Amino acid sequence: MDGEPLGLPHPFSRPEREGAVPLIDPPALARLIAGPEPPLLVDVRPAAERSLARLPNDRHLPLPELVRSYATLPHGRPIVVYDQFGSGARRAVEYLQRKGLSFTAALEGGIDEFSRIVDPSIPRYRSGARDGDLVLLQIPRYDSGCLAYLVADPVERKAVVIDPGRAVDPYLEALRAGGWELSAILETHTHADHLAGHAALHERTDAPIEVSHRSPASYPHHRLTEGDHVEFGGEVITVLETPGHTADHLTLRLRDKIFTGDTLLIGACGRTDLGDGNPDQLYESLTGKLLRLPDDTEVLPAHFGKRHALPERYSSNVGFERVTNEALLQGSLEAFRTYMTEGWPPKPAEFDRIVRENLER
Ligand SMILES: [Fe+2]
Repeated sequence: MDGEPLGLPHPFSRPEREGAVPLIDPPALARLIAGPEPPLLVDVRPAAERSLARLPNDRHLPLPELVRSYATLPHGRPIVVYDQFGSGARRAVEYLQRKGLSFTAALEGGIDEFSRIVDPSIPRYRSGARDGDLVLLQIPRYDSGCLAYLVADPVERKAVVIDPGRAVDPYLEALRAGGWELSAILETHTHADHLAGHAALHERTDAPIEVSHRSPASYPHHRLTEGDHVEFGGEVITVLETPGHTADHLTLRLRDKIFTGDTLLIGACGRTDLGDGNPDQLYESLTGKLLRLPDDTEVLPAHFGKRHALPERYSSNVGFERVTNEALLQGSLEAFRTYMTEGWPPKPAEFDRIVRENLER
């Protein structure tokens, strides 16, 4: 466009509010790429997502590596960070700006939006993406901001469901569509914020319900303890006990992934004042257990907060959370105790009733 300045920061100067991450929309990025001074494009997605499509001449720095290698990025040249749908890139830009790389923006809507608006030849990502031969479906419930998971070994046709909601049709449909048999129904903890679906799913599939040995549940269940294995097909889930959000909280580890329930959320952690939680225990679970896992361990939480759109896979990793997560940046047990006990809104009135119901069936 004639007369439009190609230099920065013009497309980068669209923060929605003070301190917000600068965004660049797909058409503006396309103009910059075609211009005389194209920005450095940085893809922060995991390799599995990148394998489908990428922007030309970019640099691949998945989030854990970004934390290690941000110092190698150029200071003088504009940088546009992208991911699949935009949310991971925003957090990466926030991080890079704190590290002094101020000439940085996130691609709004990610490569998915770029493909839709600018270049339809770029294939768009579909749900049910595979990590090698593992199928992982993240099933959001927009009314409550909860995330459930269905993980399948498609070769041996066995699956597990983690933290199902009470409306179980989506899991049954996915099982039917994949031709998978349900091997186990797992709860990371006793939920206070939604009615759990383990009993309904058990009634429909006969799969066993597996929960912590610390759970006071009165429905029939298998009791899991630290180091236990839950097998389905050729896959093995290892149980980590991570009390704190609740006393019966488990984190479930599968390959390079952890299903963290509400122990570790993206950018935050679950409250400790909703049931039998304990800030000291949560601090130990986070610092003594989860933060000791390798940086590129993928974090798959049970909550995303209420919002209208989600990236195809709402996840993070241990290395990125270590340096960006508000709860993990408290610095000491004392500061963490204060963080967990002050400034939270009142506990919703129905939570005690939901816990009772979730323990009965
Ligand atoms: Fe919870």
